Amino acid sequence: MTHSRLIPDIPTLYPAMLLGRSRTNRRPPFCGGDVHWYFLARNAIFEACRLLELGNGEVLMPAYHHGVEVEAVVAAGARPVFYRVDAHWQVDLKDLERRIGPDTKALYLIHYAGFPGPAAQMRQLANDRGLILIEDCALSLLSCDGVSELGSRGDVSIFCLYKTLPVPNGGALKFNRPRHGECLPQRAPKLASVVSLTLSSLLLNLEMRAGRAGNLLRAAIRRMAHLVVRASGVDRVPVGTMHFKPEHADLGISPLSQSIAERQQTDRIVATRRRNYLLLHDRLKSLSPPLFERLNPGVCPLFYPLWVSDKPAMLERLGERGIRAVDFWGDHHPACDPAEFPEAMRARRHIVEIPCHQDLSPATMDWIAKQVELELRGHQAELDPSIVAGG
Ligand SMILES: Cc1ncc(COP(=O)(O)O)c(C=O)c1O
Repeated sequence: MTHSRLIPDIPTLYPAMLLGRSRTNRRPPFCGGDVHWYFLARNAIFEACRLLELGNGEVLMPAYHHGVEVEAVVAAGARPVFYRVDAHWQVDLKDLERRIGPDTKALYLIHYAGFPGPAAQMRQLANDRGLILIEDCALSLLSCDGVSELGSRGDVSIFCLYKTLPVPNGGALKFNRPRHGECLPQRAPKLASVVSLTLSSLLLNLEMRAGRAGNLLRAAIRRMAHLVVRASGVDRVPVGTMHFKPEHADLGISPLSQSIAERQQTDRIVATRRRNYLLLHDRLKSLSPPLFERLNPGVCPLFYPLWVSDKPAMLERLGERGIRAVDFWGDHHPACDPAEFPEAMRARRHIVEIPCHQDLSPATMDWIAKQVELELRGHQAELDPSIVAGG
């Protein structure tokens, strides 16, 4: 089915963003310090494990994960051991502590979709037990826990830029403690790779704004670009893929990404995302129990997590309406035993991410909320309360 509008899952690039004035940004990883920039956040994780000498040791990682962060840890020679996270994305600190053993070298915390995990408690635990804390903010750029910025408590923290900002690539590794050893030299990404990702974001923006005409234009330009890329034999490194590739581990961020990131009005982005999230929360909370009762101060939501009974059907139907809702973390890393972590598996099977990013106006959010309401009321079976039961 063709649709008359497109709601991208991530923010898109608008030509003026290539030229606007650059701004002083006070949020990590943009506020200075010992920060290293990469093409992808997974490269930063790999490099962090190498510099922290985690090889041959165990890293305690959440059972609810993307999978690529686990791959990066494994590629660096460390062994992941998983700890429990409940269906509401809450870390089970007792379970975490219970799993610390003689080979444990680091605790790995993921802040999910901008919502803060227990960084202070895990910092304390790491200090008490002589362990390293890795704070993964790949899904939580610009987010705070009250006034405390996410990414400020780990020995190192990891950020991904392109999920929150309209940049073609970008990840960062921030050292919050003095570092031993040098970061490996980086290769610049191929220009064609960066141009193709940038063009794709500009075209998405066009389609989002111009509807059907934009859709036709985007399809035509994409066909042409594919032909050019194929003819020139360019190795295009994509973003947003599921796997860590060691041959791309030394790829650095593109200067274009850094330049676009510097031009972003981050306070406005946070405010818009919060406004959009709250609009969905108000409209949908009576139809599907919210994962979080409140949006606490400082949180910059990456998306609105929605419990659904039939995730594939919801994704398909929203897709038919032009809404790119995402199958949030359907799969686990093979080293993690799903039978041991049933709540994480329920979250994987039943949570859909609804876009609430800064490109979306209140009128668009109203339209999105209406489409989701229609689906929840019309097609989705009632959600079994045991699916969303907390810990
Ligand atoms: C928790 C987490 N960490 C790290 C990454 C890796 O990010 P990137 O795609 O920039 O490598 C992801 C990717 O989705 C993620 O979800």
